[in-house]
Amino acid sequence: MSLRFKFTLYISVLLLLVIIGVSYNIYVTQKKFLTHQFSETREKTLTSFVAMCNEALKLKDELQVYNAIELLIKTYNPAVVYAGYVSVNNVNMYLSRDNNKNIDSEFKPRIRKVRTEYSENYYSLSGEKIYEHSAPLKIDGENIGTFVVGFSQDYMEKQISVGISKMTTQIKLVSYVAMIIGILLANFLGYTFTKPLKLLTEASEEITKGNLDVEIKLKRKDEIGVLFNTFNNMAKQVKELDSMKDSFVSSVSHELRSPLSAIDGYCDLLIDGVNQGHPQEQQLKGLQIIKQATVRLTSFINNILDLAKIKANKLEIRRAETDIVALISEIVSLYEPLAVQQKKTISLDIVFKTSIIINADAEKIKQIITNLVSNAMKFTKENGNIILKVLENSTGYGDNYVEIWVKDDGIGIPKHQVDLVFEKFFQVQDGQFKRPKGTGLGLTIVAEMIKLHKGYVWAESDLGCGTTFKFVLPK
Ligand SMILES: Nc1ncnc2c1ncn2[C@@H]1O[C@H](COP(=O)(O)OP(=O)(O)OP(=O)(O)O)[C@@H](O)[C@H]1O
Ligand SMILES: [Mg+2]
Repeated sequence: MSLRFKFTLYISVLLLLVIIGVSYNIYVTQKKFLTHQFSETREKTLTSFVAMCNEALKLKDELQVYNAIELLIKTYNPAVVYAGYVSVNNVNMYLSRDNNKNIDSEFKPRIRKVRTEYSENYYSLSGEKIYEHSAPLKIDGENIGTFVVGFSQDYMEKQISVGISKMTTQIKLVSYVAMIIGILLANFLGYTFTKPLKLLTEASEEITKGNLDVEIKLKRKDEIGVLFNTFNNMAKQVKELDSMKDSFVSSVSHELRSPLSAIDGYCDLLIDGVNQGHPQEQQLKGLQIIKQATVRLTSFINNILDLAKIKANKLEIRRAETDIVALISEIVSLYEPLAVQQKKTISLDIVFKTSIIINADAEKIKQIITNLVSNAMKFTKENGNIILKVLENSTGYGDNYVEIWVKDDGIGIPKHQVDLVFEKFFQVQDGQFKRPKGTGLGLTIVAEMIKLHKGYVWAESDLGCGTTFKFVLPK
């Protein structure tokens, strides 16, 4: 059973139940109302009839009493079947709706004196249900006669059922219309729900088949529209991840292959050199290149391992008092020879204090700064300058934080990619500068390590002008 059909069915059943419930309620209420209305009319009729009789009897005008009886019979025909009056002196007046001798012989004897007011229901000989009301008429507390009125109960019930059947026809009509509109609406609603599901299913199937160029084009302003947007964003991210994966695989293979082939090549060269007695200088150069390649391989493997540890929440911070100025000076000194070799400069900006002590994991801080410095060296051209700076109090985060800058005047990063550089495997592509390949893990590790120290990192950059990485650490 399709979702749309189920939806229509459930809504229709629900609608039917509601219509039955409401109709039954209306029916019962209306019946009560009509019965009450008829009883009320009967009471009013009796009250005005009694008032007319009293008026006439006060004037001792019995003809007026007869007129009142006649008026009652004529006005409320066929509701009033008979009416009559009998005085204490046995003056008897009687009129009936049907004016028929046989009938009169049944009803006339019912005009009799009573001491107290009473009402009764009975069936006439013709089978008609009669409601009879009788009461003594009094003037100044003195009993002067009795009136008797017989109402047709059947007539009243017939009138009620006519009223009810009119209303039932209306209810039926409204119910049919409501049912038809309800079913159409439910069907339409079902369609509006199932159509997006169908689109989502088709799009998901495309992704499963490997077609990542999927986008749901239908625009809607409701929750389903939000779902479509989320799906489209997800599909976009899957696509980005897929291309990131491709670039990761290519950079990983590059990062593994190039140092390995350097090691392999120079090992062969060294073996030949030893055999053929090459000069020592040449052999030393080969060994240095092998050393560099192993350093590069080690750093790559360490990055991968660090990242795995970070992912598994296993990277621990061992805090100890650390002189951040001394630590940075050491890194600067370490990089100076390489900078000279690459015709670049690296320096530590003047600090007013020769030592700033913070509570941090010195090894991890070294790794953070080394990563930033090696990036700065990598993405700076000949004659480039790399400057490191320590601010004892962070300008943005306050006196409880120390702020460190690694500034270069290299190729920079396009504005819209600045925040993305901390993402895993992300490598900037700007179409303007040729960028040395890496794995895109260095800055991810930097960001995670700073986060573990409860610090913050960010980058400021202009394409072609240079980049400054800034981070703060709690003291
Ligand atoms: N100082 C910088 N100047 C210009 N671009 C930079 C700088 N630092 C980082 N980037 C850009 O950010 C990207 C991500 O840097 P990250 O250090 O994470 O990776 P990587 O250096 O490419 O590889 P890895 O560090 O893992 O060997 C780099 O590929 C580079 O494009
Ligand atoms: Mg790097």
